[in-house]
Amino acid sequence: MAEGKGYGKCILFNEHFVVYGIPSIVSAISDATVAIAEKTDSGGIQLIDNRPATPGYKEEKKEHQEDSLRRILGAMDISMNANLRITLKGDLFAASGVGASAASCTAIARTLNQLFDMGLDDDRINEIAYEGEKGYHGTPSGVDNTASTYGGMIWFVKGEPNTFDLMKIPQPVEIVMGNTGTVANTKAAVAGVKERREKNPEEYDKIFSRARNIAYDARKALESSDLKEVGRLMNVNHQLLQKIEVSNGDLDALVETARKAGAFGAKMTGGGLGGYMVALTPGESLQEKVSKAIKKKGFSVLKTKIGV
Ligand code: PMV
Repeated sequence: MAEGKGYGKCILFNEHFVVYGIPSIVSAISDATVAIAEKTDSGGIQLIDNRPATPGYKEEKKEHQEDSLRRILGAMDISMNANLRITLKGDLFAASGVGASAASCTAIARTLNQLFDMGLDDDRINEIAYEGEKGYHGTPSGVDNTASTYGGMIWFVKGEPNTFDLMKIPQPVEIVMGNTGTVANTKAAVAGVKERREKNPEEYDKIFSRARNIAYDARKALESSDLKEVGRLMNVNHQLLQKIEVSNGDLDALVETARKAGAFGAKMTGGGLGGYMVALTPGESLQEKVSKAIKKKGFSVLKTKIGV
């Protein structure tokens, strides 16, 4: 029996823009998915999904998950006729926007690596998790699986090849992630941006260039612990995401609630059109206050830290 882990993640800056080569900043969160793998005598390949999840999430993602697993097995040269049981569990709540799909791909790649004694390093695990992510996203940027595999806070740039480096921030910072409870389709959200950008190239170029500047300013602010500035930049980033039409009413309402409760800044996070938002809430008492305000509106929250 073998076990592997993949971290959840929170995109702090530039989801969607990252697909077009604009730098993004992503942090792993301490919540993670764990995969257990064991060899069995018969029954083919079984995947048992025991993760806590948003209602409807697992059903919605079932086909994607099967495609993803086929891709992971293919990338690892494991026969589709093998007899294997893979069980997914862990404390990462499976929902849109927290990197649940990437965390599961990384966890599965790690557990199979251990079960078959393959001796693969993190770079190879990351590549395999990226293959798995294609089952969910089509052409993912790679930002999610990179955070899932390496942990920490990451400056990520999609390219040929993707490049990333681990950022050093002085100390971990509390965040609240509010869950709209809607399962979002990242593939469709990414396709929508592509279509609108083709129709309005000039307007989108302007928005994209502002997003690029925000990434550099945010890196500086994070590395010097200027959290007020980080929060302000998150607010601006949310505006840009609204402009490219990937936010929605629930996300905007939760962002507003968090800001009113004192969050330094708040924005949607991940694919959008549902899923999660994130609020920067340094210190446990502010974290608790913002978390309560969101819960009062009837939404569930995840209290965690970035930069751990
Ligand atoms: O929906 P999530 O949490 O998997 O995040 C997707 C992030 C995007 O930038 C929208 C897409 C991508 O491939 O980077």
